[in-house]
Amino acid sequence: MVPRPNPYRPLFAKAGGAIDTDRYIAFCDEFIRESTAGNVAAFVLEPAQGWGGSVFPPDDFFPKLKAYCEKKKILLFSDEVLAGMGRTGEWVTLSHWNVLPDIVTFGKSFGNGFPVTAMVVREEYGDALNKISASSSYGGNPMACAAALASIEVIEQENILENVRRVGAAFVRRMNRMEETHPIIGDARGKGFLLGIELVKDKKTKEPFNEAGKLVYQKAFRKGLAWIPAGHILRMSPPLIMDEEYAMKGMDIIEESIAEVEKEYGY
Ligand SMILES: Cc1ncc(COP(=O)(O)O)c(C=O)c1O
Repeated sequence: MVPRPNPYRPLFAKAGGAIDTDRYIAFCDEFIRESTAGNVAAFVLEPAQGWGGSVFPPDDFFPKLKAYCEKKKILLFSDEVLAGMGRTGEWVTLSHWNVLPDIVTFGKSFGNGFPVTAMVVREEYGDALNKISASSSYGGNPMACAAALASIEVIEQENILENVRRVGAAFVRRMNRMEETHPIIGDARGKGFLLGIELVKDKKTKEPFNEAGKLVYQKAFRKGLAWIPAGHILRMSPPLIMDEEYAMKGMDIIEESIAEVEKEYGY
């Protein structure tokens, strides 16, 4: 395990405070030298962390990591079970940074509710898979494959990616405005429909505000918003078909709930 760059809470920063992605890569390099036999098969990561708090690294990180992996002949394995297949507005999340993984996993949006996942490898590694004749009890289930193909068809035919990009941008604009006006919002971030609002007790110390997160979650739920239970990070991962009117209605409920919690805590 190596640390991942989180722009809001950088572990390695330059003198001015900006996140220093070179030092994250240097850490990986040192870790591989000190803690492995040096023969690393693959680097496995979640390009946009979901459960980790809708965290996206800075734009220069993945191109640097890809270049490092190529130099060291390490495969890049992108776990996109949550973020792939459209959630961030791209089929493959890493393509936001013009990086293609060697191996990628898809789930969730892939079957649109039907339990189906896929591991996809670059064509040049297809032979390696054939050699080990990988199989599993339920792999290749025809109904699951039909569900996945139907989901892909709908995402294409109904321009779902375009919807996610357009409405996602509206979400982020709204969240940025909220960050400016609410004292307990430390950071608001996201791409497409993978969004997060980080609640803090103080914008300077960035101390996580867990109690507020739980309360905002409960209040919004009581107002009719079905969403993800929260700690100090409010995570939003709405259906990819959501339109802007609905999206803003949801944000109204969240903002109202945040304002109520701020009042209760005397902000
Ligand atoms: C990023 C990520 N990878 C893997 C998984 C696990 O997938 P599965 O439930 O198909 O084992 C999840 C499930 O939430 C996930 O979010």
